[in-house]
Amino acid sequence: MTGTNHRILLRSRPTGIPQPDNFTADTVPTRPPAGQEVLLETIFLSIDPAMRSWMTENPGYQQPVPLGAVMRGGGIGRVLESKSSHFQPGELVQARLGWQTHPTLPARYLQKLDLTRGDALAWIGPLGLSGVTAYFGMRDIGAVKPGDRVLVSGAAGGVGQIAAQIAGIEACHVVGIAGGTAKCVYLVNELHLDAAIDYKTEDDLSAAIGKACPDGIDLDFDNVGGPTLDAALLHLRPEARVVLCGRISQVAADPPYGIHNLGQILTRRARMQGFQVFNYHDRYEEARAWLAARHQQGRLRQRLHVLEGLHHAPQALGMLFRGENNGKLVVQVGNIEGR
Ligand SMILES: NC(=O)c1ccc[n+]([C@@H]2O[C@H](COP(=O)([O-])OP(=O)(O)OC[C@H]3O[C@@H](n4cnc5c(N)ncnc54)[C@H](OP(=O)(O)O)[C@@H]3O)[C@@H](O)[C@H]2O)c1
Repeated sequence: MTGTNHRILLRSRPTGIPQPDNFTADTVPTRPPAGQEVLLETIFLSIDPAMRSWMTENPGYQQPVPLGAVMRGGGIGRVLESKSSHFQPGELVQARLGWQTHPTLPARYLQKLDLTRGDALAWIGPLGLSGVTAYFGMRDIGAVKPGDRVLVSGAAGGVGQIAAQIAGIEACHVVGIAGGTAKCVYLVNELHLDAAIDYKTEDDLSAAIGKACPDGIDLDFDNVGGPTLDAALLHLRPEARVVLCGRISQVAADPPYGIHNLGQILTRRARMQGFQVFNYHDRYEEARAWLAARHQQGRLRQRLHVLEGLHHAPQALGMLFRGENNGKLVVQVGNIEGR
């Protein structure tokens, strides 16, 4: 099968929020698969805050994407042609596809989707990496338990929506923080959180947290860092857990915000711990089984924000850092039905 592979390449490294001109597009012929390789059609690409760190020169938990290379990114694809006996044309897989329409990848890098657990939308949504991140952050690091008073920042985003609902499933009192009235209404009316705080309109975020959590916080699931984390620390209950999942507010902050209220960790005998979901790789199956069961029961939802077309990917990444996404941000590249 010959065809065209449309690609988005990293052109320059960002200084603040990633911009479309950090990327450039090209087209190359599709590469036929060799031994143990598979030619795929990309259907969905997940757009994640971590991608910004891959664009910089500093090796973090992943090597930087070289300038001129296809932008790294994970998603869901369909097998078009296979030289591996493990994959047949038409099958759906999860893989690090990169920002391209027709990658050719070694079969060992592909994971077949278990469609008994959910369809392609579920796999890019609640069963995807943001769901798995929420699962380990809430249950392992946060040690969530019934009756906890839980605060989730970035609550209307990909990870935050699932984290907040996990706490709800565990019979906690759940308060979400998000930017804008529409996101807060969604959290309360659609995801059934007990309350939501619009941090963009609150002059005194600590007072707003105090009002929404009058008995304090047992578990703070923090996706944003900076002043939001600082305000939450003032409301910790004894032996509270603070889960450092992300610090998106600080990614482009220069200088970074200095946390003032760390003394609360000591006086409240609290625990603050960060984590990276990739370190849980051996337990993804456990998380997906738990998430899929709740998703199938209709107890776990995740609103997706879908942009159609690979050409949207360069502008999509910056949207995360401006709060322009309404839910888990995804670029749809191919047709789900395979037409
Ligand atoms: N630890 C891990 O292994 C792991 C894995 C995946 C993701 N993460 C982290 O989890 C967090 C959420 O990721 P996601 O993929 O689900 O993205 P997301 O929450 O869907 O999108 C990012 C959201 O961050 C919020 N935001 C942006 N700038 C902000 C600011 N200055 N102050 C407060 N909020 C701001 C915006 O929501 P508002 O409109 O509400 O402001 C935006 O919608 C990120 O920090 C990410 O790095 C961690």
